[in-house]
Amino acid sequence: MCSFKKWFNLYIIFHVLASTPIFSLSDHSSNQLSTNFLEIAKKPDVFDWMVKIRRKIHENPELRYEEFETSKLIREELDKLGIPYKHPVAVTGVIGFIGTGGSPFVAVRADMDALPIQEMVEWEHKSKVPGKMHGCGHDAHLTMLLGAAKILKQYEKEIQGTVVLVFQPAEEGGAGAKKIIDSGALDNVTAIFGLHVVPELRVGEVASRSGPVLAGSGIFEAKISGKGGHAAIPQHSIDPLLAASNVIISLQHLVSREADPLEPQVVTVSKFQGGAAFNVIPDYVTIGGTFRAFSGETLQHLKQRIEQVIIGQAAVQRCNASVNFFDEEKPLYPPTVNHGELHKLFLDVAGNLIGINNVIIDESPSMGSEDFAFYQEVIPGYYFMLGVKSSPEPNQSLHSPYLKINENGLPYGASLHASLAANYLIKYQHDVAKVAGKYHDKL
Ligand SMILES: *[C@@H]1O[C@H](CO)[C@@H](O)[C@H](O)[C@H]1NC(C)=O
Ligand SMILES: *[C@@H]1O[C@H](CO)[C@@H](O)[C@H](O)[C@H]1NC(C)=O
Ligand SMILES: *[C@@H]1O[C@H](CO)[C@@H](O)[C@H](O)[C@H]1NC(C)=O
Ligand SMILES: [Zn+2]
Ligand SMILES: [Zn+2]
Repeated sequence: MCSFKKWFNLYIIFHVLASTPIFSLSDHSSNQLSTNFLEIAKKPDVFDWMVKIRRKIHENPELRYEEFETSKLIREELDKLGIPYKHPVAVTGVIGFIGTGGSPFVAVRADMDALPIQEMVEWEHKSKVPGKMHGCGHDAHLTMLLGAAKILKQYEKEIQGTVVLVFQPAEEGGAGAKKIIDSGALDNVTAIFGLHVVPELRVGEVASRSGPVLAGSGIFEAKISGKGGHAAIPQHSIDPLLAASNVIISLQHLVSREADPLEPQVVTVSKFQGGAAFNVIPDYVTIGGTFRAFSGETLQHLKQRIEQVIIGQAAVQRCNASVNFFDEEKPLYPPTVNHGELHKLFLDVAGNLIGINNVIIDESPSMGSEDFAFYQEVIPGYYFMLGVKSSPEPNQSLHSPYLKINENGLPYGASLHASLAANYLIKYQHDVAKVAGKYHDKL
């Protein structure tokens, strides 16, 4: 997951609610957990333990679907906590259970994979694996979910249902979330929560919104074939470079001329490879890129038009083209869309835990994408951003080899996870009781 910067340019703090003396929880205020999970998460037995785990995971990053040691570490910690789990799910995934073991079920998810980046931060717990780094903060995500598990386990008797801990592999391009869904492990879950750390927000701040948060995305690669030859005798060749150039320009017309200007879409050609000499026209050229949109329909439409344009425009220059959308390896990521009711719950819970002044409601979603969207296709879901800004360094960003996570953010994520899950279950039971009460009145 990446490119949140724009997300935070145009936010509004929740002034209206902030100015009300007590954030009104109206009819379910009495149903909120009275225990302060944030205080618990900040205590040394939870905080120091989390820091240790996070550093251990950070030192040993593993790429998508190779999270074997990470998975083992998670299971060892769950064993120590006495939390039962399912394993393996989706290759390296682990699914833990806290509570009654019965319905209702609420899931909380953390992703496990690192990135193929060489860490450039010099510190004691730098990645020990050359060329691999937890450059998207998933080490912090795992740690916070374990932190939530440790807290919830202490209050297991008060949990009114089952919290399902989802340790998911392969968020970075591997659609691990889809594999978890396909496994059926979340079949009876009625809500799912997920978060992402962001170095642009301060520790103790969170941001989210109702509705679309992140775009859906797909990738493409095309081989445009001509006929190579001497660069000085172009009439004996079919130049794939010129064809590819025209293809790229035509692709840029999809958004500028065919898309609704009020519906955000992106088509970017980010790869252009071909030719090796000053005096040789190559046989073929490879181009590739990404496309983004906020509805599955639009994504499908873009996909279809990208293929038509590449093949058609290549043909104008007498070239053949084939297009690969990597449907198997990287299926289209749907847009990440937050459920309205869960947004209300988030405002209640986060407002209570960290103060409504620290809850940022963003105006504009980001064109970045996230495989959490696969859960939201089948389960009402909620995804939010959590601040882990470490210092006022300007070049901090996700996927950067300089990324630093402020570990003081860990208790916030852990307690929010725990609180959201526990309060969701309370609210669920309360709402069910209310509906039952209504029917009862009618009888
Ligand atoms: C979901 O609930 C059904 C019916 O109670 C049950 O048969 C099934 O095993 C449950 N699935 C999971 C993954 O818990
Ligand atoms: C394109 O494909 C056709 C049919 O396979 C073939 O006859 C032609 O030579 C190909 N042209 C190029 C430039 O590769
Ligand atoms: C990012 O910041 C680090 C200092 O933490 C500095 O060494 C590095 O050169 C910076 N990189 C860029 C791309 O600005
Ligand atoms: Zn990422
Ligand atoms: Zn990420």
